[in-house]
Amino acid sequence: MPQYGHSFLNINTYLAIRQIQFAPARSLCFDTSRAGSILAAMRNVKVQLGGRSYSIVIGNQLLPRLGAECRRLELGRRCAIISDRNVAPRFSPLALRSLRDAGFEPELLTVPAGETAKSLRTVQHCYDQFAAHRLERKSFVVALGGGVVGDLAGFVAATYLRSIPFVQVPTTLLAQVDSSVGGKVGVNLAAGKNLVGAFYQPRLVLCDLATLATLPPREFRAGLAEVIKYGIIYDASFFRRLEKDLPKLIQRDPTTLGAVVARCCAIKAEVVGQDETESGLRAILNFGHTIGHALEAISGYGKYLHGEAISIGQIAAAKISAKLSGLSANEVGRIENLFRRAGLPTSVRLSPAQREKLFAAMQLDKKVSGGEIKFVLAKKIGHVVTGQKVSRALIEEALDGPPPAGAEWQNLFDWHRRALRHPKHVQIPW
Ligand SMILES: NC(=O)c1ccc[n+]([C@@H]2O[C@H](COP(=O)([O-])OP(=O)(O)OC[C@H]3O[C@@H](n4cnc5c(N)ncnc54)[C@H](O)[C@@H]3O)[C@@H](O)[C@H]2O)c1
Ligand SMILES: [Zn+2]
Repeated sequence: MPQYGHSFLNINTYLAIRQIQFAPARSLCFDTSRAGSILAAMRNVKVQLGGRSYSIVIGNQLLPRLGAECRRLELGRRCAIISDRNVAPRFSPLALRSLRDAGFEPELLTVPAGETAKSLRTVQHCYDQFAAHRLERKSFVVALGGGVVGDLAGFVAATYLRSIPFVQVPTTLLAQVDSSVGGKVGVNLAAGKNLVGAFYQPRLVLCDLATLATLPPREFRAGLAEVIKYGIIYDASFFRRLEKDLPKLIQRDPTTLGAVVARCCAIKAEVVGQDETESGLRAILNFGHTIGHALEAISGYGKYLHGEAISIGQIAAAKISAKLSGLSANEVGRIENLFRRAGLPTSVRLSPAQREKLFAAMQLDKKVSGGEIKFVLAKKIGHVVTGQKVSRALIEEALDGPPPAGAEWQNLFDWHRRALRHPKHVQIPW
């Protein structure tokens, strides 16, 4: 059957040509033979906020689904992806292609990497680009990056044309388990962090666990500080699971990672669903943050990663909890041990001048009301109480760690010297 043979030959030639044409894009292609297992491992967590409810979709290699997921939201055709200079080269080709394949007209907007991008200057730049790209009320913004990009893009979306929809595609562990969920968006002023902002919920959060593969180890560890926090504030069995599975988590084992990110998102979704604007329950998420934020502020933003500062803050809060809210010494030990095993700093040594600055910074914290510093304290792992008054002396003692029982002045002096040399202690570098 020559004709059959002829068309067969044509198809073969055609396929060969296609293979050459598509070869450069091979690394960007979605392996459809694995589609079944990927879909099976996908998790969906819902944030219940009435008409503003949205899904957090968690899974491996989800980026190629971005366009299809956005299409279900009935958004306008034009959109802008905001990403940073580290993330855009890695993941924007996939995101752009997925959106285009789904019929959208995306424009990529790249901002500098790091906290400095969370500024009103960058906001202005984004507005100008949006106007040039003729974004309209139904157009939408995709935040592709860590918490910096998410907070910035969310704020731009909340304010451009008095709000246009936005979608979060978090690419750091911290952003996947925390900042992309819950609708706190904003930028920094010279006077302090997150001083301008809004509560503005995304329409979708797409957590592609595969993006975490390229995250630097220090950033990954910083994200673990928020993960551990969920165990302390809300879920004792999750905390136990972390104690067991930490090695697999640190190795970024996809199954463990998927389960952990999903549990963290579910806890945050539950909390935000009950108290969107932090008039009550949502304050539990600030465990360890009073001291953590102050440490970030006095050491100059960027010296400590947020996760590192709140690791020290959570251990100090646990020690204060042992004095004031009944947390057992054994549980304080388990908490400290888990942070240490995660490779996070557990204490800080401050000079008297730095200590003064720390307390001044705590007074400036947004959570301070009527001049009183209020703490979230743990009664036991999995259960915390908010709005607890704590004296300065107790905070200082918790930061130093208790001196050994019965220590005389000389012993105390030696103990301080030893502590200074201890590698787990962090020296503030200024
Ligand atoms: N909105 C909230 O509820 C909330 C909660 C917590 C923190 N935050 C904010 O989040 C910000 C911190 O977020 P963050 O820790 O994600 O920092 P980040 O966004 O600065 O990201 C950290 C670094 O990792 C890079 N990066 C991101 N994804 C990567 C990837 N997959 N591979 C390689 N590199 C990657 C970034 O370019 C950056 O250099 C802070 O501004 C903080 O205020 C907001
Ligand atoms: Zn935090």
